[in-house]
Amino acid sequence: MRLRIGLIGFGRWGPNYARVLSDLPGAELAIICDRSADRLDLARQRYPTVTTCRDLDPVLRRDRLDAAVIATSASTHEDIVKRSLEAGLHVLVEKPMALRADSCTALTGLAAAADRVLMIGYTFLYNAGVRKMKECMAADQFGDVYYLHATRTNLGPIRPDVNAVWDLAPHDVAIFNYLLGEQPQWASAIGTRVLRTTRDDIAFATLGYAHDVVGNIHVSWADPNKVREVVAVGSRRRVVFNDLNDAERVRYFERGVSVGEAIADSFGEFKLLVRDGEIVSPRVEPAEPLKAQCVEFVDCIAERRSPLADGRFALGVIRALAAIDKSIQSRGAAVDV
Ligand SMILES: NC(=O)c1ccc[n+]([C@@H]2O[C@H](COP(=O)([O-])OP(=O)(O)OC[C@H]3O[C@@H](n4cnc5c(N)ncnc54)[C@H](O)[C@@H]3O)[C@@H](O)[C@H]2O)c1
Repeated sequence: MRLRIGLIGFGRWGPNYARVLSDLPGAELAIICDRSADRLDLARQRYPTVTTCRDLDPVLRRDRLDAAVIATSASTHEDIVKRSLEAGLHVLVEKPMALRADSCTALTGLAAAADRVLMIGYTFLYNAGVRKMKECMAADQFGDVYYLHATRTNLGPIRPDVNAVWDLAPHDVAIFNYLLGEQPQWASAIGTRVLRTTRDDIAFATLGYAHDVVGNIHVSWADPNKVREVVAVGSRRRVVFNDLNDAERVRYFERGVSVGEAIADSFGEFKLLVRDGEIVSPRVEPAEPLKAQCVEFVDCIAERRSPLADGRFALGVIRALAAIDKSIQSRGAAVDV
C-alpha cells in the first residue's frame, strides 16, 4: 500500500521534499499546503496532479492522508506537529521540532500515546559523509577524542522568527551528539547582531561533553564565504567532513599527538608523542541525504519503529540550543544543559 503524504510548507526547502516524495517508492505526494498563494501557484505548475490548499484542515483529514511532512518556518512547527499527531498522522518535521524542551517532550509523548512515528529533519544524520566520518572515528583508529569544531556560515537567509543559533546550529549539535553518542553537559556562547536585526545573526558556542571533550560551533548569517564543515581531532587522527567538497567529502589525516611518559629529571614535564602518516579521502556514496531521510521515514512507518532522529534525540539537541541561548544572554557564562 502506498503511503499518502501531505507536504506543509512550500517555501525554499519544501520543494526539495516535494521532488523527493513524488519520486519515492511506497509513497505518494497527495497534498501540498502553503499559506502563500504565490508558493501554491508554483506548486501547481510543478505538480499539476497534486491537490493544493492554503489552510491546514484538508491535510488533517486522516481518511485522506497517512503522514505529514512539515517544512514551514520554525516558530510554526510545534502547533502544526501537535495538530497533525492529534489528527492521527505520522509526522516528519523539519528542525527545530519546537522552540522549547518541554514542548518537545510533550510532542514526543503525544506521538507515543497515538502510536505514530515522529521524526525530525536532521538531514545530516542521513548524509553519507557524516556516516563515514563516524566510521573514521572508531576508537581503535581515532584514539581519544580531543575536540570537535563546526563552521556553518553564509549570507543568510535571515529568518524572521528565530536567531542564527536556532536556524543553523541544530545541524551541528545533532552531528556532534551523533558522532559522540551522547549529549552535552554544559554550554557557553557569545552572540552578536551585526546586521542590526533584533536577533543574533552570529554565534560562537562551546558545548562540554563527558571526559572534558569540547565541541565548538560557529554559525553566521553574515559571512560571504559559505562553509559547511565539521572537524574532529583525536589522539591518532584528524577527520574532516566538508559538505561542499563533492570530490573529497571526508578526509582523515593519520596524524596526532598524545602524551607519553614523564621526562626524567624534569618535574611535571611529559614527552609528546607525535604520529605522522597519510592523508586519506575514503569513498563516500553519492546519495542524496534528504532522500535517505524520507526513505527512513517511510520504512519506520511500515516497520513501526523509531527513526534515528526521533523525539528523544531532538530533545537532546533542543536542550543544548536553549542552554546556548541562555549563555548568550549572560555574555558567555557556562549554563548546564
Ligand atoms: N534540513 C535542512 O537542511 C534544511 C534546509 C533549509 C531549511 N530547513 C528548515 O526547513 C524549514 C523551512 O525553511 P525554508 O527555508 O523553506 O523557509 P521559508 O520561509 O522559505 O518557507 C516556509 C514556507 O512555509 C509557509 N508557511 C509558514 N507557516 C505556514 C502555515 N501555518 N501553514 C502553511 N504554510 C505555512 C510559508 O508560506 C513559506 O512558504 C525551516 O524549519 C528550516 O529550518 C532545513
